[in-house]
Amino acid sequence: MSENPSIKETLDFEERIVLSEWSHRNCSVAEYQKMHGDSLAKFENFWASIANELEWFKPFEKVLEPGEYPNVYKWFVGGRLNLSYLCLDRHVKTHRKNKIAIIWEGEPAKSSNEPLEVRQISYYELWRLVNRVAYLMRHKLGLKKGDRIALYMPMIPELPVLMLAAARLGVIFTQVFSGFSSEALSARVNDLGARYLFTTDGYYRRGNIIRTKDIADKAIKDCPTVEKIVVIRRIGLTDINIDNNRDVFFDELLKDVPYNVYVEPEQLESTDALYVIYTSGTTGKPKGIIRDTGGYAVILNATMKWIFDITDEDIYWCTADIGWVTGHSYIVFGPLMSGATTLIFEGAPDYPEPDRWWSIIERYGVTIFYTSPTAVRAFMRLSPDYVKKHDLSTIRLIHSVGEPINPSAWKWLFELIGNKRCPVGSTWWMTETGGILISHTPGLKLVPLKPGTNGPPLPGIEVEVLDEEGKPVKSGVKGYLVIKKPWPGMPGPPTGMWGEPERYNEVYFSRFGYFFTGDYAIKDNDGYVWVLGRSDEVLKVAGHRIGTYELESTLVAHPYVAEAAVVGVPDEIKGEVPIAYVVLKTGVNPGPNIQTELKKWIREKIGAIADPKNIFVVSRLPKTRSGKIMRRVVKALALGKPVGDITTLEDESAVEEIKAAYEALAKELEAAKKT
Ligand code: WTA
Repeated sequence: MSENPSIKETLDFEERIVLSEWSHRNCSVAEYQKMHGDSLAKFENFWASIANELEWFKPFEKVLEPGEYPNVYKWFVGGRLNLSYLCLDRHVKTHRKNKIAIIWEGEPAKSSNEPLEVRQISYYELWRLVNRVAYLMRHKLGLKKGDRIALYMPMIPELPVLMLAAARLGVIFTQVFSGFSSEALSARVNDLGARYLFTTDGYYRRGNIIRTKDIADKAIKDCPTVEKIVVIRRIGLTDINIDNNRDVFFDELLKDVPYNVYVEPEQLESTDALYVIYTSGTTGKPKGIIRDTGGYAVILNATMKWIFDITDEDIYWCTADIGWVTGHSYIVFGPLMSGATTLIFEGAPDYPEPDRWWSIIERYGVTIFYTSPTAVRAFMRLSPDYVKKHDLSTIRLIHSVGEPINPSAWKWLFELIGNKRCPVGSTWWMTETGGILISHTPGLKLVPLKPGTNGPPLPGIEVEVLDEEGKPVKSGVKGYLVIKKPWPGMPGPPTGMWGEPERYNEVYFSRFGYFFTGDYAIKDNDGYVWVLGRSDEVLKVAGHRIGTYELESTLVAHPYVAEAAVVGVPDEIKGEVPIAYVVLKTGVNPGPNIQTELKKWIREKIGAIADPKNIFVVSRLPKTRSGKIMRRVVKALALGKPVGDITTLEDESAVEEIKAAYEALAKELEAAKKT
């Protein structure tokens, strides 16, 4: 399993925190369990009542129905709706018309003399703009329902605008995280068969300009389905390459679209795809998870209330990047559907100064703060004065996501950021689930908090922890986390995974017959779930999900590399980092800089987020006699742990070599520390 540092700290089942400020919502574990049990007993009625809180163009006829392929389900069958309508049109008819929908802050300049770049967009303005962009997509680009587009965009307001405009037309989008390289981008664009690629000239990060258009240019060479690159001018770079036959500027397309155009939102089927999001696994190319429309809308609407307790007064801030699922669900669609004010920032947490986030909270009066354990651990290393010099008293609720939260990080959030007044949760979910499934529910009922837990499964969600044989384990015992019943927001029709129904079924259902999350977890006596980390070879690096397969196949694509094994090792800040062992091809003479060269290669092919901490060149990898690399052994060696049973090992000297390589590095680091 992934030995996240949090797991080394004790799971303190005894520490229960009841917040007096939340007494109106507090409930006992037994009360919660009763409510949860009732929701499962009346499963379909329960979800029907939650779904009816949304506005449907046409009501659904059936809550749930099996799809054409195994384990793919259709939610809210017959219902028609539109996410862009739910996020915008619905609000502009109410008191929210002039409410701020999006607060956006660009990366500040290093010198504090330069004015901050801020945009505050009201629901009305956003509705107008999304209509214009939907018009542009339909009439100038010829996009229609079912077409696909790709968004390779940084954190600027045009990104949610594009997402909402696509949603308005039923155009399926995929968003590729702006930190990914050109190859990662082209693989995703091609898999989806996107007609257009939207990107910017560049964006700011830590005082540098990241030239997104250059990366897009490189990617597009291998993307035959892409007709045009649409370029949004974020920086105003004058030296980007423009191919007049292929590239168009967004502002030029938009400039003669009247301000008052209205594009009727498509009445989409609940089962129609909204977007496809790619996520890495342990084998094969990234998996394109299909997101439906109705089930997704329902899980987001419910979780915004139950988990974030969202109200009209809130300034809600999720610090993720919109390129990951967290941003799709909980920066864009969730908060806007709830009529909230959602905050978006460009740049990094620690630039120009390490107090940027606390300054943002103070300046905009953030009330709900949703962040990641990695960010917290990075801040914990710095002086608390960066936090203390800002007034954070507006905060009333805190959650984290992406990886287990270690109790000390939890306490830091609870004490320093929330001043011991606010619930602090660790919401568990995955790209595949669409929305949060395991969490405390301060907006509904609040059970006692325990530092480090995820809390109980949400109403209507049934999870179980199983042993190797698929039998439920006793409370307190580690096992595999599965989701027993379908849930709204799950991978959508027709195939769950874009173009790969068999793979969808194989990856998630073949092992236990239920949806297998890939996570290790413990359920305690109160029924709280403690997700411990991945049970497979998926890495969580700073909360970002990276498949070992993607890394290994990239390494062996290098002309010098014959074989590669990548494993995750614990890291104090990032939770986990990859290290790689490579065997070079015979006859190549790589020179002394091969490690640097391979690190550069990975940055180019995947992106900086996948950069291995160390790359070791060895002459062989531990393998079974049938030739399978024994990653378990590699991992144990990398962690300095006993390797266990190696009777199936083909050649024991491989073990010695890896051990020696790691020990040599440890010595080197030790020596470097001393000097
Ligand atoms: C991990 C991110 C513990 C887990 C939304 C899961 C967590 C993977 C938590 C999915 C949490 C996410 N506590 N572990 N609160 N949230 N995880 O697809 O291992 O990037 O399987 O989705 O993150 O990562 P993904």
